[in-house]
Amino acid sequence: MSGITIALSKGRIFEETLPLLAAAGITPTDDPEKSRKLIIGTNRPDVQLVIVRASDTPTYVQYGAADMGIAGRDVLIEHGGAGLYQPLDLNIARCRVCVAVRKGFDYARASQPGSRIRVATKYTKIAREHFASTGVHVDLIKLYGSMELAPLVGLSDAIVDLVSTGNTLRANNLEAVEDITTISSRLVVNQAALKVKRALLQPVIDAFAGAVTP
Ligand code: ATP
Ligand code: PRP
Repeated sequence: MSGITIALSKGRIFEETLPLLAAAGITPTDDPEKSRKLIIGTNRPDVQLVIVRASDTPTYVQYGAADMGIAGRDVLIEHGGAGLYQPLDLNIARCRVCVAVRKGFDYARASQPGSRIRVATKYTKIAREHFASTGVHVDLIKLYGSMELAPLVGLSDAIVDLVSTGNTLRANNLEAVEDITTISSRLVVNQAALKVKRALLQPVIDAFAGAVTP
């Protein structure tokens, strides 16, 4: 495309990006929650949106299939960030990555340096680095969602997952026992596209920067 392609995931990132797009004069012509279309036009003939899985956004931008995208810091850490320019923290989709266990589980004892615990998570890189830094040996079990179930059915001692309101943990009789890091979503830009399409991309980056709410 001679114009620009922006990768977004539907749900909270799409919703929270709408005001930023508006600030750049961009209005999508379809609602991804209602449409099955994966390529969505906008009021601007030179801007299109592609709707991808949240964890796939960095990949589309890395390979230049999208010129820019918006991805959670969790996803970016797991991806590694190769080939991505990350000019802006957009301060949207804010949450934190936590270690959580069943209420009543003696985590202080289970997590003494040198001990070994079983942790289920989608965030294996974040979890591995965290437990390496605390000196706990960890057997990681990779999951793709609904991590909260794992300690309830004996799949793991603990999980590493995103927490925002804490409602999901509470509803499943779990509690956060360690905060690992805070998360928000970032603008990611393909480095080659930034050079070739700077005239189109830079105004969008600047408009997003001006619309970020602290
Ligand atoms: P995928 O579809 O690839 O499995 P996902 O289901 O985690 O990913 P979303 O739920 O749309 O995708 O989350 C997108 C991003 O929003 C996450 O990467 C994270 O940065 C952030 N996020 C996830 N859950 C919350 C939450 N409860 N509150 C605030 N932000 C969140
Ligand atoms: C995310 C995350 C937690 C939940 C935490 O799930 O995986 O389960 O939010 O938010 P809370 O502390 O406010 O309850 P999400 O709602 O995105 O569901 P999904 O990952 O299954 O799409």
